[in-house]
Amino acid sequence: MKYRRIKGTNDIFGEEIWYWRYVEETFRNVCESAGIEEIRTPIFEQTELFVRSVGEESDIVQKEMYTFQDKAGRSITLRPEGTAPVVRAFLENSLVDRGFQQRYYYVGPMFRYEKPQSGRLRQFHQVGFEIIGPESPKADFEMIILVDTFLRRLGLTKYKIHLNSIGCPVCRKNYREALKEYYGQVLDNLCDDCKRRYETNILRLLDCKVDHEYALNAPKSVDYLCDSCRAHYKKLKEYLNTFEIEYVEDHTLVRGLDYYTRTVFEVRHEGLGAQNAIAGGGRYDGLFAELGGSSVPALGFAGGIERIILALKAEGIEIPMKNVHLVYIATLGEKAFMDGVQLAGELRKKGLSVDVDIMDRKLSGQLKHASRMGSRYAVIIGDEELEKGIVILRDLETGDQVEIDRDFAADYIAERVSKD
Ligand code: HAM
Repeated sequence: MKYRRIKGTNDIFGEEIWYWRYVEETFRNVCESAGIEEIRTPIFEQTELFVRSVGEESDIVQKEMYTFQDKAGRSITLRPEGTAPVVRAFLENSLVDRGFQQRYYYVGPMFRYEKPQSGRLRQFHQVGFEIIGPESPKADFEMIILVDTFLRRLGLTKYKIHLNSIGCPVCRKNYREALKEYYGQVLDNLCDDCKRRYETNILRLLDCKVDHEYALNAPKSVDYLCDSCRAHYKKLKEYLNTFEIEYVEDHTLVRGLDYYTRTVFEVRHEGLGAQNAIAGGGRYDGLFAELGGSSVPALGFAGGIERIILALKAEGIEIPMKNVHLVYIATLGEKAFMDGVQLAGELRKKGLSVDVDIMDRKLSGQLKHASRMGSRYAVIIGDEELEKGIVILRDLETGDQVEIDRDFAADYIAERVSKD
């Protein structure tokens, strides 16, 4: 083989497609039933947008972005995530004129130069939404409910919602100092990444996989929250408790993107390996101001489609799969072919999926192909059938066949197929 797909990317086809359609359609349905509108932003953006939003010191900006110069010398980056583009689009298109409590969902590819492994790709796909305007914990509550509804509606049960509050810039200042003091005492024992982050992005020490035991005893962000952040977090938990949404408070949860404030959450699935986060999100009350707008509170989440599919498979959940080659029309000769195309049109109009032979094969070859593609029925038309004004309908599973008057063929076949 001369050409191969790029490492960390996938071709998606066959049965796999039905998993994708299932996840995407379920997500769209959940969003639209909650009145959330779709937004589509470009796949590439100015590099600076992600540097400013995701954060100069984040792993994404430091080592994972697909950045290149276009022919005019501009620095362009394939989007590593969907939040910053939505905020940019909101500001650029003056969507603020529509008032607040606006919600937008998206489905699409994201790109990160990470080391590929199970559940970790370089082109992966997210479903997500962003809620723009509300400061109240009612919004955080509603967001978590919708994420939970989406995962339940897919049929998933073996996941846990991890929750934390990392406060606002005011309380985070004190928290950072407490972490500096704590980690300062063990600095020599930490991995190289942690040593670097100690200076640049100390919160990220909490989710280091290597030095995790230190994180368990580290100061907790919830103990350093200012009054309003504490009240916000308390109210959110009250709402979740009242509604009996299960969650675990996770003091080591800080997330890898720098724009978060207050609520952060991650959904982890027990059937996956190291890459067990199937969704994550939180508040980013400072991002609008950071990107040049006025100060607008906002929050959102994204789920990874590939990982959600791994979770569906781990739980053995059955996915509805349609047979795209339901009826196969086998024809012999030019005239029969033209009639076959005509009949295919009549059946397709009735909503059936119909394939017509276009390979000029012998009848046996046509029927073999129909079976291989999973067709349940074949319609056979040759000179004799044309002369008699009939078509033959063969059930490829049982081998039974009937002759049908050509004038009623479309009605008969549509009715027969609908009974299966
Ligand atoms: P994130 O946690 O970086 O958050 O990504 C969200 C989800 O995307 C992860 O939980 C995971 O399922 C999936 N994911 C991330 N990286 C990969 C990868 N390399 N391969 C496969 N799946 C991956 C965000 O992107 C935020 N924009 C979420 C958000 C929206 N926060 C507020 N609004």
